[in-house]
Amino acid sequence: MQIQLETQPYASLQTDAVVTYVFDQENKLNGILAEIDRGMSGRLASLVASGELTGKPLEPLLVHFPAGLAAQKLLLIGAGKPGKFTTADLRKIAGTALRQLKSRGVKKFAFLTREGERSPAAAQTAVEGLVAADFESDKYRTEKKDREIQSVSLAGFDPGLGANLTAAIDQGRTIGESQNFARDLINEPSNRLTPRMLAERAQAMAKQAGLSIEILDEHKIAELKMGALIGVAQGSAEPPRVIVVRYTPANPKPGAPVLGLVGKAVTFDTGGISIKPSTNMEKMKYDMGGGATMLGAMRALAALKPSVPVIAVIPATENMPGGRAQTPGAVQVSMSGKTMEVLNPDAEGRLILADGICYARRLGCTHLIDAATLTGAIETALGNVNVGAFGTPREYLDKFLESAAAEGGKMWPIPIDDEYQEMIKSVIADIRNTSTGKGGGAITAAWFLKEFAEDTPWIHLDIAATCWLDDGRPWLAKGPTGVAIRSIIDFALKM
Ligand code: BES
Ligand code: MN
Ligand code: ZN
Repeated sequence: MQIQLETQPYASLQTDAVVTYVFDQENKLNGILAEIDRGMSGRLASLVASGELTGKPLEPLLVHFPAGLAAQKLLLIGAGKPGKFTTADLRKIAGTALRQLKSRGVKKFAFLTREGERSPAAAQTAVEGLVAADFESDKYRTEKKDREIQSVSLAGFDPGLGANLTAAIDQGRTIGESQNFARDLINEPSNRLTPRMLAERAQAMAKQAGLSIEILDEHKIAELKMGALIGVAQGSAEPPRVIVVRYTPANPKPGAPVLGLVGKAVTFDTGGISIKPSTNMEKMKYDMGGGATMLGAMRALAALKPSVPVIAVIPATENMPGGRAQTPGAVQVSMSGKTMEVLNPDAEGRLILADGICYARRLGCTHLIDAATLTGAIETALGNVNVGAFGTPREYLDKFLESAAAEGGKMWPIPIDDEYQEMIKSVIADIRNTSTGKGGGAITAAWFLKEFAEDTPWIHLDIAATCWLDDGRPWLAKGPTGVAIRSIIDFALKM
């Protein structure tokens, strides 16, 4: 899909469709809409009067052969109340427009931003929405729909902003494509993405993006005494991997912070000996979503070049039952030396992340973010809307949440008081991987990770309920979402 800046006036554009959006307010047909309506001799006004054009969020209205426009279609998308409008809405509007038009066989269209949204930032957001909306999950279908958006032009912008606008479009594309890169990995079934294959995909990405990468194989993992990761992996015929991707800025400042991104990559989670029920078990192919998130973020950071070094550490394994699998009650010695009682082999994410976090600190990371499809409990807590965000110190978490909110990332802070720590104390070892108490399952899981982050500033994102969409949205296909990637990129750039 090509995306370019349009300098011609929108009315004379020879394109399949012109898209713009309408606010839900008293005077719906203001600004350019008044102009378009004049060209159509008041037809839009009559659609407002009949209640077909309301401006309600993401409501689409398609007008064929609009008088006054050279394009064959005019698509109007509802933008909601102007007071509530944010950049995130612009992203959804652009995405909704693309999916609406794609499903109708349109090949090229112009996206006309409204008077208030003509900054480079708006262009970037719109492009992010367009690129993410274009992603489809039909990779293994042999008969694909031949529907393809070939080209989108961004209209309404002041060409005087020239280079800034082109840079913004490039950035939007980088971010959207990096999100799609992660979504493609998340979609892969476990027979097409084992830990070794994930490592290969990461290597290919790193090479293309200009990042350095190191893959730790089972021998190196044993040498480093990553007992928690080994305990999970030993039930599988597939060997584990730890993927380490590094971004180093051109002029690294001595003493500057080093950001560590740790992502859970369980390429399939059967539950191990504590095997999961078969209903929906196939969804556990997306249990590597945290790892994919960090690879997507690194892909974008390679191009966007933050001023701080960033290291991604991704422990990758399957969680399988088998003759060698760890049993409930097994005690493992983690890389840090802390001992863990594995009461439930299905609580494997926290185990492999413990070694991932320990290794990231060993490599010199001064600040950590981890992302993981860690607990079913996070769905109970926050539904499928917000990512569960945990962290210490509170100021570090707050900075992250502020930055996420600014770009439209939905995340909500969850407390981790010391009382919860009591619930993961083991009798036989240092800690246990399930809680002795009732409820708070996402919190005790977070506490398990904090035991390994210790005093390093640390943020934990539980994406178990938000990394996968069971039904599509007007702006996004169903399946993997790429949640949290943008927020992590933004935060790294601000660091
Ligand atoms: N991968 C799962 C969590 C999960 C559940 C992700 C649903 C996506 C959707 C994780 O490894 C797990 O099995 N967690 C258990 C922990 C429990 C045994 C303490 C859970 O949440 O049930
Ligand atoms: Mn599990
Ligand atoms: Zn899991």
